[in-house]
Amino acid sequence: MDIGIDKIGFYTPNVYVDMEKLAEVRGVDPAKYTIGIGQEKMAIAPLYHDSVSLAANAALSILDDEDREKIDFVLFGSESGVDHSKSGAVWVHHLTGIQNEARCVELKHACYGATAGIKMAMGHVALNPDKKVLVLGADIAKYGLNTGGEPTQGAGAVAMVISQNPRILSLDNDSAPLTRNISDFWRPLHSDVPVVDGKFSNEAYLGMLKDVWKAYSKKTQRELSDFEAMCFHLPYTKMGKKAIQAITEEVDESETKRFMESYHSSIFYNKQVGNVYTGSLYLSLLSLLEQAPEFKEDARIGLFSYGSGAVGEFFSGVLKPDYKKFLKKDAHESVLDDRRELSIEEYETILQQSLPKNGDDIDIDNEQVNVGKAYLSSIKGNVRNYTVK
Ligand code: COA
Repeated sequence: MDIGIDKIGFYTPNVYVDMEKLAEVRGVDPAKYTIGIGQEKMAIAPLYHDSVSLAANAALSILDDEDREKIDFVLFGSESGVDHSKSGAVWVHHLTGIQNEARCVELKHACYGATAGIKMAMGHVALNPDKKVLVLGADIAKYGLNTGGEPTQGAGAVAMVISQNPRILSLDNDSAPLTRNISDFWRPLHSDVPVVDGKFSNEAYLGMLKDVWKAYSKKTQRELSDFEAMCFHLPYTKMGKKAIQAITEEVDESETKRFMESYHSSIFYNKQVGNVYTGSLYLSLLSLLEQAPEFKEDARIGLFSYGSGAVGEFFSGVLKPDYKKFLKKDAHESVLDDRRELSIEEYETILQQSLPKNGDDIDIDNEQVNVGKAYLSSIKGNVRNYTVK
């Protein structure tokens, strides 16, 4: 059965920081952030956006009434969930008006959660060919002011509809997963920000990429020449360049050059948003499909998902004819272009704000201009209240 991505959309908050200005204030050469790390703008989530509202906005941008009837499974991948018990999927299901005879669950393993969602969605559609699954990857990447990870923060969500006979990308069921119990990045229950050993995490990511690529290649007999382009999990966009260099180190340099041509399209959105954890790989895929010239039908795209801690997976899919017709390039460019730049003072104030940790009620100020269709408007009696315009 042909199963894959039928629709894909994304959302990021309406405010951002310019990386060159942040570098100046931090006393760092701006080229370190823009070239060394590869980020131009960094999305910031004010209190009116959490992982649920970001995911709801991404989903609202793609769902129509037929999807609302046929979706019977909502899978919410996140490592910045808003409740220890209730899944973000239940809120998104409600905020997007999906029919009630559905299952809703949240999936967690660092930046790998949405990939787990896709794998589960494929199994579900194989058993229930007339149904569709909504898979979400939604996160706020926050390391804190003046930290090593500060320039690799971000916020946003990707939403995908997985169905049979998809119109964008057919996914193959011959992927290569790998799990290794390591401590490169994690967020203890007591902490709002992660513990990260950035250099070790880079090494662990690249080591896992090489190992899953080898396993995938052996299993499928596919070589690099079978792929038109590659997309990678992008904690920051320079990581994609390191990944291409790692995967092509044993082959002719012309292969590195070939993949570097599409790399620039595959980081176009990510370098304006920053890290969105679970959504990063899929934001890169979306960027590639919308920003690169049209690939030929059946072009194969490789995908590497990495969640610190660590779970990695290499998998691939082939593009459908006329896939460009089913993308929303103009809308996605508007989401990025219609944002407001924050001064560094405003950014520092927002980053230090947090929702009450003692159960107090709060009404949340929101800039009524361009906050997205869905946002967090209050918490009353420990219940989160979202507004959908
Ligand atoms: N011009 C151009 N490039 C410059 C530069 C300049 N003036 N100054 C530094 N650079 C380059 C460095 O050479 C380096 O490139 P390389 O990685 O190709 O060697 C890069 O910029 C980063 O510099 P570095 O000194 O390594 O930065 P850092 O110690 O501040 O750490 C990260 C950078 C990315 C490791 C850190 O921000 C981090 O830990 N982020 C979180 C990562 C993460 O999320 N991991 C988990 C998920 S996978």
